[in-house]
Amino acid sequence: MNASEPRHPFLQGLSKHRGAPPTVVVIFGASGDLTARKLVPAIFNLGIDNLLPGDFHLIGFGRKPIEDEKFRSLLDEAIGEFSRRPLDGEVWGRVRRHISYQSGGYDELAAFKVMAEKIDALERELGRDLQRVFYISTPPSVFEPVIQNLGKSGLADKHQGTKLGSKVIIEKPFGHDLESARHLNATLQSVFSEPQIYRIDHYLGKETVQDLLVQRFANSIFEPMWNRQHVESVQITVAEELGVGSRGGYYDQSGALRDMIQNHTMQLVALTAMEPPVSLDPESIRDEKVKVLKAIQPLNPDPEKGDVVRARYADGLFQGAKVPGYLEEAGIPADSSTETYAALKLSINNWRWKGVPFYIRSGKRMARRASEIAVQFRRPPGILFSEGSKYDVAPNTMVISIQPDEGVTLVLNSKVPGLETRTQPVKMHFRYATTYGSNTPEAYERLILDAIVGDSTLFIRGDETEASWRLCTPLLEDWNKRGNEGLASYAAGSWGPPEAERLLAENGHLWRRAGP
Ligand code: BG6
Repeated sequence: MNASEPRHPFLQGLSKHRGAPPTVVVIFGASGDLTARKLVPAIFNLGIDNLLPGDFHLIGFGRKPIEDEKFRSLLDEAIGEFSRRPLDGEVWGRVRRHISYQSGGYDELAAFKVMAEKIDALERELGRDLQRVFYISTPPSVFEPVIQNLGKSGLADKHQGTKLGSKVIIEKPFGHDLESARHLNATLQSVFSEPQIYRIDHYLGKETVQDLLVQRFANSIFEPMWNRQHVESVQITVAEELGVGSRGGYYDQSGALRDMIQNHTMQLVALTAMEPPVSLDPESIRDEKVKVLKAIQPLNPDPEKGDVVRARYADGLFQGAKVPGYLEEAGIPADSSTETYAALKLSINNWRWKGVPFYIRSGKRMARRASEIAVQFRRPPGILFSEGSKYDVAPNTMVISIQPDEGVTLVLNSKVPGLETRTQPVKMHFRYATTYGSNTPEAYERLILDAIVGDSTLFIRGDETEASWRLCTPLLEDWNKRGNEGLASYAAGSWGPPEAERLLAENGHLWRRAGP
């Protein structure tokens, strides 16, 4: 590569040379939980790393009236509580003085016009144009009015066709089924063009998820084996220890399939199974992800014989203390049939993966917080080391640990030292924390910066979200009809319902104990 050529942003990562344009970020849903927990701490940390644009402005928009100074002090508190690094008065002071707040209804066009005028006035005062980045972090019920008002107020069109054209970042949930996702896509695309749209899936901002592509395509030893000739099965686990906590109202309308599988887990499937992209530009990567999602066979929803098991946690023990079951959690209706766990067996109908089952599962209140991708290779032929109990020849497995304890583990067979030949599976570990230290950027830092600089690689394209909904929607429709019929149960603090073993049993596989 020519030294003067810019490096691709995906390779560049959080480098200091990205030349972010002068920007105003408007957060809709500014008094919400996500703003406090993730967005503002991420902006603060970008400030510390000197990655924010030289001219950076932040406007919070929400229904509640809040004075500017009060809003700023709420953000100070949020940083104190949720940032990975302590509040640095000097750095934050420079960002803070460019923060303001505006209240208004999400369906109130006049409030959007006031916002448009406010930003125009700011540009006049600065004597320069600003890129507008709209971050929609509201409840999903108002996504559409916000998008429409961004269009009608002229905010969306501002500086269109120049480097400072507006952008919109939209939080999950992106629809609640295929039809609503299509509708939301149509609304977005009636106001913004696809390159201006940044659909968030925060899993893509995680270091380890990005590392998946590097492990696959920057090493020559794995890719030749990454196919049906050598891989026996793939298991993807996204397990959480926590229950629904105070989010019962939201969660009961959602459930594990919508909350975790349709988005985060399917993204892990797509990155694990996709073909090598022709280049690292956003469209090449997203084209491959869509292709593989489309190759997944429709799922059979039958609770006895099908490809899916859903379940709900009952009370149980978590770290030695008794914890309530899902139905006892705050805000959960007694007649709820929402699943807190789902496990799926996917068959990918393409040349590379035909016949290799992809088992995926995600649940709340599981034994351990552990997200991982385990690629199990075919067993070596049992010709040499197979006699009696002296040999324990395990299949080789590559485990990419997304969180916590980020890293990669290879399970290999080795000779136990001694005078006789005895084999035993051993683990070779690479751990982020030991190699790189533990203070890696949070997903939202990467994603907010990428949107500001216009790199959409780590965001979901419209057809991608629809491909994933196309798989999940028939299951949701089936569950809706069945209610509690076929809804299994698992004790809080366990690895999920015994029924989930059925998905693997016909191939003689077992669920792994995920985690270190
Ligand atoms: C969110 C879900 O998208 O992801 C939550 O709505 C879930 O229910 C969270 O807890 C998990 O994210 P992470 O980054 O903690 O694995």
